[in-house]
Amino acid sequence: MSVDLSVSLGTLTLSNPLIAASGCFGYGVEYADAVDLSTLGGVAVKGLFLAEREGHPPPRIVETPAGMLNAIGLQGIGVHRFIREKLPELRDRRAVVFVNICGTTIDEYVELARILSDAEGVAAIELNISCPNIKEGGITFGCSLPGTHNVVAAVRKVTRLPIIPKLTPNVTDVASFARAAEDAGADALSLVNTFLAMAIDVDTRRPKLTNIVGGLSGPAIRPIAVRMVYECRQAVKIPIIGMGGISDPEDVLEFMIAGATAVQVGTANFVDPFIWYRLLDGLRAYMARHQLSRLADLTGTLDATSRQQAWISS
Ligand SMILES: Cc1cc2nc3c(=O)[nH]c(=O)nc-3n(C[C@H](O)[C@H](O)[C@H](O)COP(=O)(O)O)c2cc1C
Repeated sequence: MSVDLSVSLGTLTLSNPLIAASGCFGYGVEYADAVDLSTLGGVAVKGLFLAEREGHPPPRIVETPAGMLNAIGLQGIGVHRFIREKLPELRDRRAVVFVNICGTTIDEYVELARILSDAEGVAAIELNISCPNIKEGGITFGCSLPGTHNVVAAVRKVTRLPIIPKLTPNVTDVASFARAAEDAGADALSLVNTFLAMAIDVDTRRPKLTNIVGGLSGPAIRPIAVRMVYECRQAVKIPIIGMGGISDPEDVLEFMIAGATAVQVGTANFVDPFIWYRLLDGLRAYMARHQLSRLADLTGTLDATSRQQAWISS
């Protein structure tokens, strides 16, 4: 049976729903000799500020049960070097490039979007308003409804590229942030970024990360991320890119059934850089098993009614 793995994020069509998550796949080019970038649905590059940044001093990564903590602090080469040094190769390798951007002020986000709109080979802008590891900017916008609205609306005014705000899970009602972003003109949403967390060395009584706190990712967060995608699916009409702990084909399917159109894979790429081929094979096998010809038809097909009825009558 021939199967169609393609998905649409508004005007953007991806050959399949698998996107490399920002911060877990470098700028894409580092992996290009091992993974054919054109076989991925897309590549979300490491978060970029206007200028270069050093990030936090090590240790900035700690392994935790079923996950990891990171406090990289958005180390990066800045948007100008990215356009000069990385984008041409990403273009040559036919990667669908999602540029993840971060600013400390709305003006910085606007300036980044303006610069990227003139660059050839950018498919979409992912607005990182959710990094838990920097004191200024980022999550400050993502944890405030007016902040979320204002930054998305300001970027909307200066670019025709699809805008994809990336939401933080470090809020009580994630659906209200999804609505704020949609109202301000977002084309799609990414969720979730990492959960603010902490690990302590009990012998030294010191935090394991120099930054003291960091962001939790990996399978440990997956059920919470799936719940948040489900809640946002009820709240908005725009497509959702779901992520958080995806390591197996079933995880991709779970996010899609909950309401995601596409997904991102982050931490699992550190465990297995060739995970993409295993995920794609697994999706094809599932489609054959369920006689599904278009994977996109799976999005939002959760059947919650029977469970709810069983619960009500018990
Ligand atoms: C080491 C590391 C660096 C990250 N850097 C970024 C980043 O620069 N921008 C961003 O939006 N998210 C960043 N993230 C968050 C991931 O893109 C993703 O949202 C999160 O890790 C959940 O997915 P996962 O469990 O598959 O890793 C980073 C995550 C990790 C583990």
